[in-house]
Amino acid sequence: METSMENRVICNCKQVTYHQIEDALYKAPRLEDAVAAFDEVQKQTHCSTGCGKCHDKILDIIADLMYRR
Ligand code: FES
Repeated sequence: METSMENRVICNCKQVTYHQIEDALYKAPRLEDAVAAFDEVQKQTHCSTGCGKCHDKILDIIADLMYRR
């Protein structure tokens, strides 16, 4: 079975998918920078609250989504 980008688990510890990150970001108020957005996404999804290895990956995804808007 093909796994689409949307359903890819980005944070293994908390089982947070790309789609959940995207969703949390769109629900968040407009934020100035990716770091502020990261905090907001983290609050909603609890991503990157385990081992923290996914931190940079998530920040990259957020930055990417923000500047594509
Ligand atoms: S993979 Fe995200 S906190 Fe460990």
